[in-house]
Amino acid sequence: MVDTSDEWIKTRTGIHERRILKGEGKGTSDMIVPAVNNLLNNSQVRPEEIDLVIVATITPDRMLPATAMHVVKRCRLINAFGFDINAACSGFLYGLETARRFVESGSYKNVIIIGADKMSSIIDYQDRNTCIIFGDGAGAALLQPSTNGLGIQDAILRADSSGVELLYQHAGGSAYPPNEETVANREHFVYQDGKQVFKAAVQGMSGVCQDILERNGLTGDDIDWLVPHQANIRIIDATRERMGLPREKTMINIHKYGNTTAGTLPLCLWGYKDQLKPGDRLLLTAFGGGFTYGAIILTWGC
Ligand SMILES: CC(C)(COP(=O)(O)OP(=O)(O)OC[C@H]1O[C@@H](n2cnc3c(N)ncnc32)[C@H](O)[C@@H]1OP(=O)(O)O)[C@@H](O)C(=O)NCCC(=O)NCCS
Repeated sequence: MVDTSDEWIKTRTGIHERRILKGEGKGTSDMIVPAVNNLLNNSQVRPEEIDLVIVATITPDRMLPATAMHVVKRCRLINAFGFDINAACSGFLYGLETARRFVESGSYKNVIIIGADKMSSIIDYQDRNTCIIFGDGAGAALLQPSTNGLGIQDAILRADSSGVELLYQHAGGSAYPPNEETVANREHFVYQDGKQVFKAAVQGMSGVCQDILERNGLTGDDIDWLVPHQANIRIIDATRERMGLPREKTMINIHKYGNTTAGTLPLCLWGYKDQLKPGDRLLLTAFGGGFTYGAIILTWGC
């Protein structure tokens, strides 16, 4: 499709495979529904016990209604309300912090947070700056009140609006609604200045990780697992090296899935869950369009 090679992609990004959701009329919720059903089965929580569902995505099934509503309907979460969050690759992180606050308020007991994107729906397969990187994926997590001191300990969420013109999808919103011209000009696809995004991602993620560690009187040695956004293996390595963390303590699945935007963090947690023990201290970090970024420290609960 583009002038590239398997060798270039593997060495410059660490990506070996990507998943693409295929099928007429299939949207992001088609990946979310099995993830949520699986989550409910594993946690033995009934659908009617879910209070809230938050979907972090930049690729909603439709602009209206929220993808969360499709999930409520299709997973029969009959007592839940829900909404979507658009924070690009930091969506799961922003959503996790939002979900935590709802649980901490004492009003809600079972909150599902989802990170999901069908990136193939907004990627230009004639643009080698983006099409080699992104894939489709979804993951879901359940948050409940903690009774044993485990769970989310601290969060720092940040934004750097210098990224507004460096990573975006030009048309399709209210400023440039879709028309023949926007389609002909390929303005519904993601554009990025890869080099600038790369630099900002390393600085942003390593900086906010240092800040959250310091604020909590911790060092890299106190972290059992770094859970970084999966954008490029070189970004992951640069971030963990700045914290003095080895690869063995870093969750990595970019070789299998590429960058699934809001999906990367929950897919990592799912992929590594059999290696996690209650009490393990995790440092989650992400960086994405906006720029949005942040870090969360949590101790694994179950
Ligand atoms: C996009 C990205 C993979 C490009 O890698 P890079 O190492 O920065 O590559 P550069 O842009 O410096 O280009 C290096 C060379 O490879 C070429 N090149 C770029 N993309 C290529 C591709 N897909 N295949 C082959 N060659 C490519 C360039 O033309 C350039 O050639 P030149 O030296 O002859 O001029 C990288 O910048 C990146 O991962 N950025 C962050 C993206 C990201 O994470 N976005 C999501 C938001 S979190």
